[in-house]
Amino acid sequence: MIILGIETSCDETAASVIDGRGGAIKVLSNVVSSQIEIHKKYYGVVPEIAAREHILNILPVINEALEKAGIKKEEVQKRIDALSVTIGPGLITSLIVGIETAKTLAYAWNLPLIGINHIEGHIYGNFIKPESKIKFPTLVLTVSGGHTMLVLMKGHGKFQTIGETRDDAAGEAFDKAAKLLNLGYPGGPIVSKTAAEFVKTGKKSAIVLPRPMINSGDFDFSFSGLKTALLYKIQKDKDWQNKIPEYCYEFERAVVETLISKTVKAARKYKIKTMMLAGGVSANSVLRRDFLAACLKENLACQIPPPEYTTDNAAMIAAAGYWHARRKDFTPWKKIKVDCNLELK
Ligand code: KG4
Ligand code: ZN
Repeated sequence: MIILGIETSCDETAASVIDGRGGAIKVLSNVVSSQIEIHKKYYGVVPEIAAREHILNILPVINEALEKAGIKKEEVQKRIDALSVTIGPGLITSLIVGIETAKTLAYAWNLPLIGINHIEGHIYGNFIKPESKIKFPTLVLTVSGGHTMLVLMKGHGKFQTIGETRDDAAGEAFDKAAKLLNLGYPGGPIVSKTAAEFVKTGKKSAIVLPRPMINSGDFDFSFSGLKTALLYKIQKDKDWQNKIPEYCYEFERAVVETLISKTVKAARKYKIKTMMLAGGVSANSVLRRDFLAACLKENLACQIPPPEYTTDNAAMIAAAGYWHARRKDFTPWKKIKVDCNLELK
């Protein structure tokens, strides 16, 4: 089964062709056109600009994905079995560009179309690798710029959200911290790189930030207070500009420790077999290292996505589509609608 996936939920225009014949997913092409350079000066994604850029990029990106997969346009109908596209959650105007393009292509090529939840896509970034280690029930820590969730996955397409952020997402917290510290956008990679400079000094950090809701007794998160705590600390510290790596180190530690502590508590309560990481923040090397250590300590199988499938891409959307197609879970293209607050069910 060969699937063409399309992703435009935020600021990446992406298309990918995957081949699921034989049971294991092989990525034939994975094209991502990022708008980071355009949104950098605003310290975040400007929705109208993002949508306009998607309109310019979507067809060249799809063409490149087909070309790289070795599929000529006249062969599409014969070689591709289905299309899959992100239908939400995300920025409404950005999502519409991908959805309308996918619907048009599904109609023109007479191919089935599968609507995919973006979070489900992030989770399926983990199923591109040989999935032998993934045993259900799996607990997924999904951490991105828009979402922070703990999801219980009982089988393919069977999701139960057991906790989520009450305010900012983990990635958003990194982005806001970077803005406070004048480091640029997106914040996650820069905060992480700057924190590593402090680690190299071998010093012990004297800065202490809170671990929000760590003992709340539920599986929800809250990161907006952490950003405010950082703001108050630097306002009171005349020397903060000389201690930016130390602030980054403590901020990263606070986010990672909070995420892992809640994940481990949930893993024990729900008696799961695999701990899985997903979403853009799962590119964070400290989170990846400590997540693996936590799995080993809990004696659970561990699944961490390959770096190229952490931040937004379309291979993960195609992979999720492949599992829908295996269950024959198609929606007629006329019924596929955008839902910017789509829940994972
Ligand atoms: O999944 P993603 O590409 O987009 C959304 O669905 O939101 O995630 C983007 C988020 C951004 O907030 C970015 O700062 C964060 O992921 N991120 C990281 C790292 N790389 C990306 N956060 C921490 N450490 C990183 N290395
Ligand atoms: Zn994402």
